[in-house]
Amino acid sequence: MSENDRQRIDAEIATPTGISLDPFASAVRTTRMPMVITDPRLPDNPIVFCNDAFLRLTGYEREEILGRNCRFLQGSATREEDVRQVTEAIAARRAIEIDLLNYRKDGTTFWNALLISPVFDGDELIYFFASQLDVTDRKRIEEHRFLLNRELDHRVKNTLATVQSVVIQTLRDASVPQAVAEAVAGRIQALARSHDVLTAEAWASADLGDVMRGALESLRARHGNRIDMDGEPVRLKPRIATMLSLAVHELAENAQRYGSLSTPAGRIEVRWSVRDGRLRLEWREEGGPSVEPPEKRGYGTRVVERVLSAEFGGEASIDFRREGIVFRLDAPTDGLGDEATRWRAP
Ligand SMILES: Cc1cc2nc3c(=O)[nH]c(=O)nc-3n(C[C@H](O)[C@H](O)[C@H](O)COP(=O)(O)O)c2cc1C
Repeated sequence: MSENDRQRIDAEIATPTGISLDPFASAVRTTRMPMVITDPRLPDNPIVFCNDAFLRLTGYEREEILGRNCRFLQGSATREEDVRQVTEAIAARRAIEIDLLNYRKDGTTFWNALLISPVFDGDELIYFFASQLDVTDRKRIEEHRFLLNRELDHRVKNTLATVQSVVIQTLRDASVPQAVAEAVAGRIQALARSHDVLTAEAWASADLGDVMRGALESLRARHGNRIDMDGEPVRLKPRIATMLSLAVHELAENAQRYGSLSTPAGRIEVRWSVRDGRLRLEWREEGGPSVEPPEKRGYGTRVVERVLSAEFGGEASIDFRREGIVFRLDAPTDGLGDEATRWRAP
């Protein structure tokens, strides 16, 4: 940068208000977006420029602010972890975008969506530039949603627990075989587990891997490294995630009773990937007893094949190979991860 340019920029920075010949300088002064510029060549990186919007946001006069480091906006409730991230970014001379809690002059707080960028002249760091946005309303809504979500989670869990005990009691009274009662209880628990995964993601969508891990949690605790799964991140909308969780539960139950996990040497390999707009998932069992195709397709097979192909909008089938069953799902990725707003309760 030439000496002339430097002098011109220094003059613009030294002029806090008013219109200048430089449209960019005028824009920074008059925009409704709060903005500051700091000078890292001076001790403690002080503010050398702040626009009127910044004064309106923070409630300070310009003379109270110029020459100070921006940390005066922080207070006891500002998270240390947030400040640490800013400290690191500034030390590394890189940009950072972060929401952190700040204090106005009158002591009231606001959530500041802060964006800091370094300004270089060649290799030399000459300024930092930042914009601040008051996002308190958005934060409040997020917090409210989080609390509601947690409350809903507790209630649904309680309801599922009640449903489970009512169903089991009813089946017992009707002298239904123990195996049937256990199957029903297992399916209700699978629903509860998919609910856990979705709650953790605020019911927007869930990651396929998390759904798999949730559904296979108890199986992996028992059989550990005999279940090998791997795949890339794929977002699933809530209804699809729930159905996948139920289907995987059915496959897992089958593997334990009759399939590869019913013998000490058997294994399951689960793989999924996305190519050319299609999700391909495979569940492959090996090393178990010789498989006989079932004479009639029960609830489990129906959930796995029919429900999954309908929900995923693709093809889902179980191949009862003698060496071990293989389940394959092949579906377009379009619409798999739609947001909760489009979701209708199943
Ligand atoms: C240009 C610029 C703008 C900044 N604006 C804010 C701000 O609005 N609020 C805030 O809490 N920190 C802000 N900071 C961060 C603090 O000035 C300081 O860098 C941060 O507290 C970490 O440094 P420290 O560990 O020395 O306190 C800003 C930093 C820079 C460089």
